[in-house]
Amino acid sequence: MTIKRNVSLAPYTTLKLGGHAKYFTCASSEKELREAFDFAHSQNIPVFVLGDGSNVLISDNGFQGLVIQVKICGINFEDITRESVSIVASAGDSWDALVDACVTKGLYGIENLSGIPGTVGATPVQNVGAYGVEVSDVVKWVEVFNPKTNSLEKLSNKLCQFVYRGSIFKKEEGKHFVIVRVCYILSRQKKLHTGYKDLEHYFKDNDTEPTLKAVREAVLAIRSKKFPDLSSVGTAGSFFKNPIVDEREMQRLRALFPDLPLFNMQDGTCKVSLAWLLDNVGKWKGVRRTNVGVFENQPLVLVHYGNGNSSELKKLSDEIAKDIKEKTGLTIIPEVTHVGIF
Ligand code: EPU
Repeated sequence: MTIKRNVSLAPYTTLKLGGHAKYFTCASSEKELREAFDFAHSQNIPVFVLGDGSNVLISDNGFQGLVIQVKICGINFEDITRESVSIVASAGDSWDALVDACVTKGLYGIENLSGIPGTVGATPVQNVGAYGVEVSDVVKWVEVFNPKTNSLEKLSNKLCQFVYRGSIFKKEEGKHFVIVRVCYILSRQKKLHTGYKDLEHYFKDNDTEPTLKAVREAVLAIRSKKFPDLSSVGTAGSFFKNPIVDEREMQRLRALFPDLPLFNMQDGTCKVSLAWLLDNVGKWKGVRRTNVGVFENQPLVLVHYGNGNSSELKKLSDEIAKDIKEKTGLTIIPEVTHVGIF
């Protein structure tokens, strides 16, 4: 394991923003992960664990500690019953390569989560979700390295405390865990989720029969229209979470904005479409502030056009949040993890 000093973090993020890490290392095995933590303990510095950097905004001041990029790889497929297959994937594996492999093998469950950038290890952290499916629907357990006890632990789905765009790994009690492996249970039985508006329209418009492969292709086609091309601009996908509100708040919003899309959640709360508010109330679509802006096809997505910095993006996101607060009364919260001091 090599520990590098003063490493620019921007190239390690899909936003292509952020300052330097005091120390930086890659961990390709559990042994290297332990060594990296030993180093951080010996220097008495904090640790930040990075995957593919597709959901982080790193401060221009960088990170005054050790950044560990988890590169532990390897996928294992195992039949558990005639219908179900258990897939144990490692934190450093590419998420979309895993989705592709599962679709090729005829395994149902994660095809709606096609085309999401990032690593396997990142999926449970924010409970990645798209087109009517959340990764928590198929996670059996998550294996973590606990630096406090220097040991590996398995957390069942329940212990992961999954909620919309959140889990124990985002909470104080679980922030220190480093995800090493994730076990997903997929099915050989045909069970598709095509009820999400965009998917329904896709199959209607194209007059095609939804199959496992067709759903993956549909999601990839929809995403390519809604999200910027990562090779041309910096982005971290949705920058904010859709607000979750209670019944009373829902009634207030419905009276104010009769066309606002509202989605009922299982626990009786309601998810508010922030993209709609940004588009129709805030008129934020396509707004540009020098090197950063709001994507023209999906206003939840903030973009970096190049030569910008993190404070510019932070300033834009604060401006949006203030505007939405004033116009709707809603407090909006970033979905993207902020690293370092802003
Ligand atoms: N809408 C507009 N104007 C727009 C775009 C959307 O009014 O320009 C309205 C439409 O009514 C649309 C609704 O907003 O039906 C919802 O839009 P969309 O289907 O694009 O979903 P979203 O709620 O904006 C969420 C996730 C995305 C995920 C999509 C698809 C969050 C924070 N974002 O976006 O996830 O891909 O659903 O399922 O929950 C991510 O987390 O990085 C991400 C991209």
